[in-house]
Amino acid sequence: MNVRDSEAVTALMLAAGHTLAANEDEAECVIVNSCTVRQKAEDKAVGKTGYLCSTGKLVGLMGCGVKRLGADVFKVLPKLDFAVGPRAFGLIPKIISDLTSSDDLSREADIPVRAKRSAKKQILELGDNLIPSGLDAHEVHGFQAFVTAMIGCDNRCSYCIVPDVRGHEYSRPAAEIVAEVESLAKNGVKEVTLLGQSVLRYGTRNPVYPVDPNNSNIKEPFTRLLRELSVIDGLERIRFTSAHPHGCTDELIKVYQECPKVCRHLHLPVQSGSDRVLKEMGRHYTREEYLSAVKKLRDFDPEFSLTTDVIVGYPGETEEDFELTRSLMEEAQFDNAFIFKYSPRPGTRSAKLPDDVTKEEKERRDQVLLADQELRGQQRNDKLVGTIREVMVEGPSKRNPNRLSGRDSGNRIVVWDKEDGKDWKAGTLARVKIKEAHPQILIGEVA
Ligand code: 5AD
Ligand code: SF4
Repeated sequence: MNVRDSEAVTALMLAAGHTLAANEDEAECVIVNSCTVRQKAEDKAVGKTGYLCSTGKLVGLMGCGVKRLGADVFKVLPKLDFAVGPRAFGLIPKIISDLTSSDDLSREADIPVRAKRSAKKQILELGDNLIPSGLDAHEVHGFQAFVTAMIGCDNRCSYCIVPDVRGHEYSRPAAEIVAEVESLAKNGVKEVTLLGQSVLRYGTRNPVYPVDPNNSNIKEPFTRLLRELSVIDGLERIRFTSAHPHGCTDELIKVYQECPKVCRHLHLPVQSGSDRVLKEMGRHYTREEYLSAVKKLRDFDPEFSLTTDVIVGYPGETEEDFELTRSLMEEAQFDNAFIFKYSPRPGTRSAKLPDDVTKEEKERRDQVLLADQELRGQQRNDKLVGTIREVMVEGPSKRNPNRLSGRDSGNRIVVWDKEDGKDWKAGTLARVKIKEAHPQILIGEVA
């Protein structure tokens, strides 16, 4: 989501007449987009911003970290020029224009921003209730694009700061999203990823389709949106993230069946395998409900790719709870997993509970799950050796430029040797036969 918001700001700045600097050193203005989901992420963004402030550049901070710090942001970063919350990034071009046109020099076009800032002031815009302007601003430079379907979150899981910083859930009107994707496809985009904290719940809280007298009772607006997007010419793949097991309905399976552009991968954060912990977290599903969603997807397609997020060391998590998470991960046969060590976030319900799993124990649990997943990833991928994957080319492999790299529908990374003379453009589809499997990567040859 932050990558998407940064891209929107880039597009808005370009539209306002600014240009992208080749690198950080050459930039006159740098805007840092901050994350606060875990303390470490926030510390990193604030540290980086502090360094940038010492260089004399015009420096702004945006994103979730700003909302969490509030006005204190200027105590932590006294030299910061401006700060905008996650729903206020649309105001950035205006703020920058105000900051840089406040003295006479600004009329001379070749005076750098730095010199114009004699009347520099600090600005804070939180924009808590805004529907951000510029949500649809894109700077397309490739075949992939993120598209915001929803902003905010009303889930209120006990450990999560996102609802506090990103505000109430809002689904963008379907017509707006469809028009945006149509225009992206016209500009060469082949793959879109729809974004929302709990995107399967899209449109269930506010009307997103104009009232249709013949069909005023759309129970699953998200699947309808997928169907509408899947008929757009030129668009090859549709991804979306993140999902919740309650959204894994029969109708969603039908969409997978009927719309081949909808990719067979779901990021389905589980967080814990213990019913007691899930209840404390306020996740609104049980272990059994989660596993039945998994079963539904894998009954439909055994190769269906599933990834997840897990938190280890939640307050009061016992060895028994942890072992339940471990066994759930084995039962679910995840293709990949992100493991997070619990850290209390200010203002959340769980921050009131004692953070009683020691640092060492969190580390141990983290390592155990990582090792399990490494093995499991290898076993899952071994089963794909000999199969032919349809892979969307991304470009030369980072490790070996003589190889090409891309992803299959399940979001698995596939690399293969370049065929002589064949010009595989990014965004084209290749058929690759898998010869070798690793936990996080498949190696093959063009079929
Ligand atoms: N501590 C550790 N991990 C967290 N996450 C969210 N909040 C916390 C927290 N307080 C993890 C969840 C979520 C992912 C984006 O970050 O697993 O799915
Ligand atoms: Fe970080 Fe969450 Fe905000 Fe994204 S929504 S930037 S992950 S805190």
